[in-house]
Amino acid sequence: MAKIEKAAKEEVLAAKNLDELNELKIKFLGRERGALTSVLRNLKNLQPEERKTTGENANRLRELVEELFEKRLKELKKTEFDSVLKKEWLDVTRPGAKKERGGLHPITQIRNEVERIFGSMGFGVVEGPEVETEWYNFDALNIPKNHPSRDLWDTFWLRSSQKSQIPNPKSQRLLLRTHTSPVQIRYMQSHNSPIRIIAPGRVYRYEATDASHDIQFYQVEGLMVDKNISIANFKAVILEFFKKLFSKDVKIRLRPSYFPFVEPGFEVDLSCIVCNAKGCSVCKKTGWLEMMGAGMVHPKVFEAVGYVPGAEQGFAFGIGLDRITMMKYKIPDIRLFHSGDLRFLKQF
Ligand code: FA5
Repeated sequence: MAKIEKAAKEEVLAAKNLDELNELKIKFLGRERGALTSVLRNLKNLQPEERKTTGENANRLRELVEELFEKRLKELKKTEFDSVLKKEWLDVTRPGAKKERGGLHPITQIRNEVERIFGSMGFGVVEGPEVETEWYNFDALNIPKNHPSRDLWDTFWLRSSQKSQIPNPKSQRLLLRTHTSPVQIRYMQSHNSPIRIIAPGRVYRYEATDASHDIQFYQVEGLMVDKNISIANFKAVILEFFKKLFSKDVKIRLRPSYFPFVEPGFEVDLSCIVCNAKGCSVCKKTGWLEMMGAGMVHPKVFEAVGYVPGAEQGFAFGIGLDRITMMKYKIPDIRLFHSGDLRFLKQF
């Protein structure tokens, strides 16, 4: 029994893991062949005196061995727990992996804002095709062929063989629209007055680029037609629009200008929102910023869409969306919009 005790002490306390400990349990205490079990089983062959002392000793030894097992079991469980803890440890205070989120392009944000402001004044939003016919982009807008005013819009012409989705019964030459004004024509052809719409969208011009000119940019066309619409209505609407857009008490001024589809026509300047009209590099020290073209719809345009002559009057305007976005966010170069530069885009 002394041998069993010595072996148990050495081996049990040296068990490296739970499996090894289980095997040792079978070796010493197993019901079939356990070392201690054999001793106890042999008791019946001993003399009564010897049986008593051996029995007592064997039971004591069993208790001792069981205690050894308990002790080693506790130790092994703790080490196992520690190693699992080490392996699966998680710092719950660590900031999570951030998912990259996209955002709306600054021009889209301003377009949404423009739609919201005009929407609050009762204007609906309509759209027209970017591939246009020569008639809608020019002729119907009182810009006849071979007339010098066509030179105001440098045009990307499309090959005549080009198949287009848009209806073109007169087999007109196709082009990339140079402005959103053709949407006026399309809308008036299919709707009677009163009309109150804006038409935002992309337009194209075949011209050199610089900090304030691109070959593709966005405009917002506006059209209001009824029996008694005047320039005073236009001024009120557009002043309200700029005040809401820039959240400032701004001023506007109208300068006479020429657009074949309006009479009278004017350019609209906005008091410089950067320097509050005091004069800065953005407004070139004038205190004013050129924002849009506008005017009263020309009788020839009403004629082209089939309205009764003299029955209606209205105003139309074309705002450069890129330009007002540049104003709103103080962006120095229009070409940044299409640069795809994330350092720029992430700022909005
Ligand atoms: C027009 O395109 C007219 N259709 C506007 C109009 C509509 C007048 C209705 C009267 C009635 P204009 O070419 O000036 O006009 O362009 C209008 C605005 O578009 C300009 O004030 C400017 O803000 C913007 N714009 C013009 N060219 C460019 C360009 N290359 N890059 C960026 N913005 C431009």
